[in-house]
Amino acid sequence: MAMVEVRDLRKSYGQLEVLKRLSFDVEHGDVVVVVGPSGSGKSTLLRCINFLDDFQEGEIRIDGETVGYPIEPDGRRARRSETENAKLREHVGIVFQSFNLFPHRTALQNVTMGRMHVRKMPKTAARELAQDLLTKVGLSEKADQYGGELYSGGLSSNYAPRMKALIGIGRGRRRVRPQGAAGLQ
Ligand SMILES: Nc1ncnc2c1ncn2[C@@H]1O[C@H](COP(=O)(O)OP(=O)(O)OP(=O)(O)O)[C@@H](O)[C@H]1O
Ligand SMILES: [Mg+2]
Repeated sequence: MAMVEVRDLRKSYGQLEVLKRLSFDVEHGDVVVVVGPSGSGKSTLLRCINFLDDFQEGEIRIDGETVGYPIEPDGRRARRSETENAKLREHVGIVFQSFNLFPHRTALQNVTMGRMHVRKMPKTAARELAQDLLTKVGLSEKADQYGGELYSGGLSSNYAPRMKALIGIGRGRRRVRPQGAAGLQ
């Protein structure tokens, strides 16, 4: 079974049809790059996969689990409850194009928050993991600096990509990253 299955996906904003019956599979272990001009629908596709945005037709499955609208036995589309959709999102990390740390939290707190509040990881384990991750990307000495400080003085292009990589709480194998060329550092 493919990790991500997209079938005949259609998504419009009003009159503007952005995704026109799109179908593809992503297998476990695949690294996939979605390339296209600005406005062609790359971010829209990723938002649909995470169901941050709804879609009009088609089906998306992650590890066999239907995203957003399970098809009922009679063929109708039924919208999943927000609680169920939120549960599914726990396993799909998305790193947003415009991304900011919480300025009033330290780098360490920024990395631990999602894991503690969304994944319910105990504080000590979350802090240990965050320390390890910061060390791995060469930012251990920044652990106690506030997000706001890391973004001042033109340093963001240095730290931002590394911090971005740590904050997503998807399981790594399902992480999606909408990025403009400027963000691919
Ligand atoms: N919330 C929205 N409401 C209306 N139109 C939208 C909305 N979000 C995106 N669009 C439109 O949908 C189209 C696809 O946008 P999208 O952001 O998916 O493009 P993209 O391929 O990610 O572009 P970029 O490379 O600039 O990030 C664009 O024409 C955009 O203006
Ligand atoms: Mg985009």
